[in-house]
Amino acid sequence: MTTLTGKRVLVTAGAGGIGRAITTAFAAAGAKVFACDIDEPALLRLQAEVPGVAISVCDIADRASVERMVAEAAAALGGLDVLINNAGIAGPVASVADVDPDAWETVLRVNLTGTFMVTQRAIPHLKQSGLGTILVMSSLAGRFGYPDRSPYATTKWGLIGFTKTLSRELGPSGIRVNAILPGAVEGPRIQQVLAGRAAASGRSVLEEEAAALANQSIKRFVDPAEIAALAVFLASDAGRSISGQMIPIDGDSQSAS
Ligand SMILES: NC(=O)c1ccc[n+]([C@@H]2O[C@H](COP(=O)([O-])OP(=O)(O)OC[C@H]3O[C@@H](n4cnc5c(N)ncnc54)[C@H](O)[C@@H]3O)[C@@H](O)[C@H]2O)c1
Repeated sequence: MTTLTGKRVLVTAGAGGIGRAITTAFAAAGAKVFACDIDEPALLRLQAEVPGVAISVCDIADRASVERMVAEAAAALGGLDVLINNAGIAGPVASVADVDPDAWETVLRVNLTGTFMVTQRAIPHLKQSGLGTILVMSSLAGRFGYPDRSPYATTKWGLIGFTKTLSRELGPSGIRVNAILPGAVEGPRIQQVLAGRAAASGRSVLEEEAAALANQSIKRFVDPAEIAALAVFLASDAGRSISGQMIPIDGDSQSAS
C-alpha cells in the first residue's frame, strides 16, 4: 500500500460522498487529515468512525469561513502538505435559456470561487512544506459539453484552467497541482442526476441509467474508493513528477450525458 505517513492533509467537503472516501483513504495511508464540510452532523459521524481526523464546519462559499478554516487546519496539523479541493455542488438541471441566474451564481461561488479562496489561503502553508501537492476535483463535465448542466460544466472546465495555471505558478516552489476528473460515481448523487434527467426526458430512471452507461467502455459507475486511491497515489512520492495534468477516472466515457 502507498504510504503517506505524517503527511498533513486538508480535504474540503470531506464528510460526505467522494470527500469522505478520500478522508478515510488518506487516514488509512498514515496521513494526518483535517476535513471541513458544511454538514456538522456528517462531520461528527466521520470523526466517530475515522478516529484521529480533525474536523471543522465550513461553507467554502463564505470567505470568512474559509479564512478561519484554513488557519485552523494549518494550526491543527502543524502545517500543510496536501490540499484536496473536493467541494463542489451539482447545480440546476436546465438549459442555458432557462437557467436561473441566482442558481448560476451559487454554483460559481461554491465550485470556482470557493476553490480559489481555499487554495489562496493554503498556498503559504504548502510553500513551507517544500513538497506540497494540490488536487482539484473537476469532472467528466470538465472535458465535454454537458447539456442542461451549464453552470456545473462551466465551473468544472474553469477548474482545469485553474489547475494548469497553478501548476505553472507553483511548480518552482515544489508544489504539484493536478485535476481528477471522475465520471458518474456510484451513490445518491448519480441517482439524483438520473432522476432529474428522467423528469426532463419523460424516460424512466432505469432507462436514463442505461443511456448513461452506453457512453462508457466500462459498464459501471465509479466507486468513490477508486477516486480516493487515485488521490492517494497522486499525493504520494510515486507521483512526484506528475503536475499540471487532468486525469479522468470514468470508465472511458465518451460524453457527459
Ligand atoms: N458524484 C459524482 O458523480 C461526481 C462526478 C464527477 C465529479 N464530482 C465532483 O466530486 C466532488 C464531490 O462530489 P460528491 O458527489 O462526493 O458530492 P456530494 O453531493 O455527495 O457532497 C459531498 C459533500 O459536500 C459537502 N458540501 C456541499 N456544499 C458545501 C459547501 N458549500 N462547503 C463545504 N462543503 C459542502 C456536503 O455537505 C457533502 O458532505 C464535487 O466537486 C463534484 O463536483 C462528483
